[in-house]
Amino acid sequence: LSSGSRIAWRERDVKRTLPKRSRNSHKGTHGRGLVIGGSSTMPGSIAMTLKAALRSGAGLITGGTINEVFSSIASHCVEATYLPLLGKAGAMTTQPVDVSMYNAIAIGMGMGRNEETAAFTRQLVKDVTKPILIDADGLHHIKDDLASISQRKQPTILTPHPGEMAMLTGISVREILLHPFEVSKQFAYEHNVYLVLKGPHTIITDPNGNQLVNTTGNQGLAKGGSGDVLSGVLLAMIMQEQSMIEALANGCFIHGKSADLLISSHRSTEDLLATDVIDGLASVFRTL
Ligand code: APR
Ligand code: MG
Repeated sequence: LSSGSRIAWRERDVKRTLPKRSRNSHKGTHGRGLVIGGSSTMPGSIAMTLKAALRSGAGLITGGTINEVFSSIASHCVEATYLPLLGKAGAMTTQPVDVSMYNAIAIGMGMGRNEETAAFTRQLVKDVTKPILIDADGLHHIKDDLASISQRKQPTILTPHPGEMAMLTGISVREILLHPFEVSKQFAYEHNVYLVLKGPHTIITDPNGNQLVNTTGNQGLAKGGSGDVLSGVLLAMIMQEQSMIEALANGCFIHGKSADLLISSHRSTEDLLATDVIDGLASVFRTL
């Protein structure tokens, strides 16, 4: 990519760049990922992220959450392992946790807005020396601490929808939708982040201002949970070695393509659910 380029990311690009699974690979080859999220009122989000990561080629996936969430989702994601993070009154722990064994982390899905959980998130983002993807409530937690995000040495990936982007920037949703490329580029450069600005045409921007535009997805994805599934697919992509911007673009493509294939076969944009998008990943990977 030349600096400041803007390219539509298509199937041929995914086929060219997606890492192939070697006949000799073992689970460690494909990385160890940690998903942190979930709260008593939103146990499903992290379950979808875990499952999507597991269905997207990740070697090992761990869910970091509170005991209550763990007990309600464990039977849905039997392939995942768990890291208990319970603190006081349903919030996440304020004690430091050792996450050095993970290759990448995704944090924020269904996490809730509790102040202790927010403090936990801010501390973790400062301490972690691995790529970290921040979504949903996690974005709210780091909003006032973007300075420490800028100082991170390893990649930080933020995945806001336009409403969350407005919250992060103070720019109105209307203005963001009018100038999504410019707003993304400015923000990614200023805060040294990879930005995935979600929508019908998701834009992926790297800290140097290079931009890839996703070409898949449909309005059946405009449902709660679609974003949680995307975070899982992206985590699996990040954990496996390739360029970060290409990994993110491949994840967005695969997520949208799953929805597209389902709509062209036995689903409709009305009935499509986020969990269907996880099931549909099989058809996508089989053709790539
Ligand atoms: N066309 C194509 N893709 C779409 C469309 C569309 N019309 N609408 C949504 N998508 C895709 C986006 O590109 C993104 O990948 O679906 C995903 C939606 O992600 P989010 O907006 O994060 O949705 P999600 O978090 O699952 O649910 C909404 O966000 O506003 C918060 O707290 C609120 O729980 C709610 C949540
Ligand atoms: Mg979301």
